[in-house]
Amino acid sequence: MASWSDRERGEPAIFEASVKTRKLSLVTRALPLVLLCSLIGLLLRVYPGYVYDAGDLLSYVQAVVSDTADTCPQVAALAPSEHSSLLEELEEDYGTEAFRLKVFESLGGAIRIPTVAYDDLLPPGQDARWEIFSDLHAYLENRFPLIHSHLRKTSVNTYALVYHWQGTDDTLKPMLLTAHQDVVPIEPLTADEWVHPPFSGYYDGGKGEWIWGRGSCDDKPGLIGSLTTVETLLEKGFQPRRTVVLAYGIDEERGGISGATAIRNYLLETYDENAFSILVDEGGGYSVSDHVMMASPGVAEKGKFDVRMDITTPGGHSSIPPPHTSIGMLATIIKQLEAHPHSAHLRRESTYFQSLQCQAAHDPRVPASLRTLVKQATTNDKALDRLELVMAGRDRMFAPMCGTTQAVDIIHGGVKTNALPELAWLIVNHRLDAFSSIADLKARVIQTVTPVAKRFNLSVDAFGTLVGDLEPEDAYGQLRIFDAFGTALEPAPVTPMGESGPWQLLSGTIIGALESSNRTSYSGKKAFIAPGMSTGNTDTKHYWKLTKHIFRYGHMNRDDSYNGAHTVNEAVKAEGLLEVIRFFTRLILNGDESSLLE
Ligand SMILES: *[C@@H]1O[C@H](CO)[C@@H](O)[C@H](O)[C@H]1NC(C)=O
Ligand SMILES: *[C@@H]1O[C@H](CO)[C@@H](O)[C@H](O)[C@H]1NC(C)=O
Ligand SMILES: [Zn+2]
Repeated sequence: MASWSDRERGEPAIFEASVKTRKLSLVTRALPLVLLCSLIGLLLRVYPGYVYDAGDLLSYVQAVVSDTADTCPQVAALAPSEHSSLLEELEEDYGTEAFRLKVFESLGGAIRIPTVAYDDLLPPGQDARWEIFSDLHAYLENRFPLIHSHLRKTSVNTYALVYHWQGTDDTLKPMLLTAHQDVVPIEPLTADEWVHPPFSGYYDGGKGEWIWGRGSCDDKPGLIGSLTTVETLLEKGFQPRRTVVLAYGIDEERGGISGATAIRNYLLETYDENAFSILVDEGGGYSVSDHVMMASPGVAEKGKFDVRMDITTPGGHSSIPPPHTSIGMLATIIKQLEAHPHSAHLRRESTYFQSLQCQAAHDPRVPASLRTLVKQATTNDKALDRLELVMAGRDRMFAPMCGTTQAVDIIHGGVKTNALPELAWLIVNHRLDAFSSIADLKARVIQTVTPVAKRFNLSVDAFGTLVGDLEPEDAYGQLRIFDAFGTALEPAPVTPMGESGPWQLLSGTIIGALESSNRTSYSGKKAFIAPGMSTGNTDTKHYWKLTKHIFRYGHMNRDDSYNGAHTVNEAVKAEGLLEVIRFFTRLILNGDESSLLE
């Protein structure tokens, strides 16, 4: 998983304090009344023959107004009907001590195999550090025997895994469930800070009820949860109508360059473009508060662009220096970049805005004043501006969620104190707003830094094109701007929501799983869905061609994580793992019989 914001994890950033909403203008406040009057007028004009009873008319209008005021309609909980007794049986099994201990050990065993993805791994076959993945595969074969006898398993690029579970009806598009086998390394300095060793997979049942170790949150519950679900369905003799495909990457934590890319190629060859009805990968989870439960499936993902800038200048002895060395020039460029940050804006079409609408509509903790402002912002531009200001001030995720970000992350230059630096370079990491593009960003970077280049008499080669009128041979030095790693990534296409079948299927499944949970902290509470967006990237960035219906969602409660992912003391509440399995079970059964999927 890559940097899900607190918002997607359910951090109630907007609940903390009441907001002082500036009084909207008289015109704005009078607007509903004006609308109401014109609506009445319109109705009377359209149906002049009908004599309205004033009371009738008013209640009709109120119904219309309150309908359109539901800015975040929710689907009802969805449960399988054809397979309702199978689900009941499974839910009962999931509560037994035998099942629980077996599942906790399944995850523990997977954690004990340290499938670490290092940034500098060579391709599989050329680097012995991949071999540990074979141990994991042997473990899975042993732990999930029915999967290995009933499903068709394909190894892709040696260590990535694809399992095909043939359905009886080939006219139904397969469902694709994905996760990653790899984990991030542990920081050796923190090794002794772990409550239980990082690759122990220790289940401390009886005390804290946690399962400990690297990968316990990210993303071995996705791997073990989906496999356990399929294995259990096989044990019950379930035969799917809709084909289910499971795919597990091997290096999500370094961009999926060996795993997800190979899986994508294999799936495109074997199944074709848009062959899948829905794709569910890791991502946002859910939170449980005193009053409600909120789940945030990721429907969007920011783009990414690492821009490198090289400045080359003549060398020479440091005792006779020019006024500015390449390092000084680079420093000026950094200053210029940081003086011109990208601006963040609240757009009505954004995932952030939609999430605010959902929280305002369904979470009683949202202060009344903010709720009003959020609702007004759906139609009123002044309210939208005001809301932008308010959120920018109170939510540190506002700028990353609603704009492109830049961070100068790497800088190099110089080799010796008596030699002028002939080369200095930097890399700026950008995360692209959903409403921007690589082309926009390139233009923007050029516009920002060329004045500096001009001042220092540098010719500018930006992304392979000479910019400005200074030829390299007439210039004092050169500035070259380029894609640092050739990995520029456009923002992901936003997954269809609203009336879209897969969105409704997933939403209904999540709500059903949450509202039917046995956990006492869940009982009697309603669940709602607020769409989420990732500021980082998952393996799904390689999967856009497989389906339009991509959801980044792991059914994990944020309170079921001891200390988050990618850090010391990664641990998951064992009970939370059962919820993951309950979710996958419902997803597969719902998907099997629902016409919401193609
Ligand atoms: C939920 O409660 C029911 C009824 O007590 C029980 O049969 C079932 O095993 C429990 N399921 C889980 C997952 O705890
Ligand atoms: C750049 O060129 C101008 C005119 O050609 C010259 O006056 C100036 O000193 C030069 N600056 C540098 C840093 O080379
Ligand atoms: Zn992950």
